[in-house]
This record gives sequence, structure tokens and C-alpha cells, in this order.
Amino acid sequence: MSTRIGVVGSNMVDLVSYIDRMPEAGETLAAPSFAMGHGGKGANQAVAAARLGAEVLMVSRVGEDLFGEGTIRNLRELGIDTRHVWAVPGQQSGVAPIFVERSGENRILIIKGANEHLLPADVGAAAADLRQCGLILLQLEVPLDTIYHTIAWAAREGIEVLLNPAPAVPELDVSRILAASFLVPNQTELAILTNMPTDTPAQAEAAARSLVARGLRTVIVTLGADGALLVTDGPAVHIPPVRVQPHDTTGAGDAFIGAFAQHYVRSRDVAAAMRWGAAYAADSITRPGTQKAFADLATFQRFRAACGLT
Ligand code: RIB
Ligand code: NA
Repeated sequence: MSTRIGVVGSNMVDLVSYIDRMPEAGETLAAPSFAMGHGGKGANQAVAAARLGAEVLMVSRVGEDLFGEGTIRNLRELGIDTRHVWAVPGQQSGVAPIFVERSGENRILIIKGANEHLLPADVGAAAADLRQCGLILLQLEVPLDTIYHTIAWAAREGIEVLLNPAPAVPELDVSRILAASFLVPNQTELAILTNMPTDTPAQAEAAARSLVARGLRTVIVTLGADGALLVTDGPAVHIPPVRVQPHDTTGAGDAFIGAFAQHYVRSRDVAAAMRWGAAYAADSITRPGTQKAFADLATFQRFRAACGLT
């Protein structure tokens, strides 16, 4: 099985405002600071895996603007294969205005721009290279048709797919994602997918079980400060959280998935890959920003040692 990871997904430029509180309608409010960085769930997951040493190929669309050029340069500098990342004429790059409160809690708007133009035909054009991958990562910041097409194509090719149903898209048709090996929602996304409560780990487990009953093989629920939950047709496995002082939780889910993928393609051990991903996500929330907060392998190993993880 190949240890290459393919990401068919989005990229955004994150425009992050660190605030004391959101202004009311009509109110103007001064805020402490601002930072710009590379983001987008697809690119974030690609970068997390690459920072840990994985070989990563990305299929993505940028706009015909400075953000697009910067995005491609950034991915290249991180060693990610960008032969299938290019600009859509006349389109703007995706951007994400993000507001982070002192608690580390975030609110995100996404303006998808060129990401809406990543089409099934683009996946077809990258097929020869995607075929070299042992796992393909998908999220929901690109058209749903592209998601359905990639899952069906990968199933025919015998390539495993991980779908992160983020951000939550109520129209997602569960019957068309059943061939994915892994579905990785957070509690909010799981609630929207199932119309079930997911506030407690027990509720999240029941909701995830309802998806397994519909035919999904493996559901991994990220529980934020409660860790993560692995639900299959066997007993559930709870992965405990790695406790840290949160600074900025933006992109923590992406950090988990990128690190999970990088571990899984080598180990094929789902629970061990989840523990690795949970620790990587915890480390990422101790620093501001999204991709900027993702550690390289040496830095991550120091964090693991400091937390007493082996
Ligand atoms: O998951 C975090 C990401 O969501 C941010 O980087 C932002 O770009 C949005 O896509
Ligand atoms: Na962070």
C-alpha cells in the first residue's frame, strides 16, 4: 500500500482578527491584533501531513490573484506536489475572515471563490497521480459533485478515502459517501448529518453508530477537549485528550486529520493514528494561526516528550 497522500480540496487565505468580543450590528470596535496566513481545510490537512514528513499531492484551485500565487508558492515550499494546483481564469482565491476570542474560540466565514471551480473533470485529469496514493483526503469546501465523484472513483480503484464533512453541509447525501473508509466529523457536523444530539461523548457515539448502521465503515468523531471517538461495528474506542492551554483552536481538526493520515498510511493502525493526531492537534492549539501553528516532526516529538507521550 502506498504511503503517498492525495488531498482533493480547498485552499484559503485566512484573515485572522484576534478580538475581545464580536461587535454588535452597527457598532465599531477596536480589536487587539490581526494576522494573515495560509489556510483552507484541504491545504491545512495537506500541510499538517507534509510537515510530519508525508509525501503529499494536492488537487486544488486558486484564483488569478496574488493570494493564489502565494498559496502555490507556500505549498511548494513545504514540499507538496502542486502539479494539479492552478489558477481559474477570472476567479478570486478563497478567503476566510476568522475571529478569535481570548478563550481561543473561533468564528469563521468562508468565501470559497476558485474552490467552487474544482470539478469532477479536474479529479479525472489528476487520476494518474491520485492512483499512486494510499489515501485520499476530502473536505466540503469544494463542490459536492466533486466529493461524490472522487469517492466513487477511488472505490473503483481500491484507494481508501477519508471524508471530513466540514464545514457542515446539510445537503450532503450520506448514501453517496458510504464507500469512504473514514468519515471524520466534529460534534456539530455529526449532529447536522444525523439530526441527533451529540453534546456528550455518549450521544456522539450513538449518532456515529447510526451512520455505521447506514453502511459507513469507520466514523471518527473529534470531540475537542474530550479527545476523539472511534466508532465501527465493534466496541467504540475513546482516545483521551492531550490537555493544553488553548491559544487558538483554528485548524485543530485539520491538524488531527493531517497527522492521522500521515501516521495511518505507514501504520494502518487506526487507534494509534488517532492518538498521534490528537496530540498533534493539541500542540497546534498552543500557537496562533492555522498552518503556521503546525509543528514539524522534531518540534512535535519534543511536545510529545514534554507531555509524557511515548
Ligand atoms: O479548518 C480551519 C479552516 O477553515 C481555516 O483555515 C479556514 O480557511 C477555513 O477553511
Ligand atoms: Na492554532
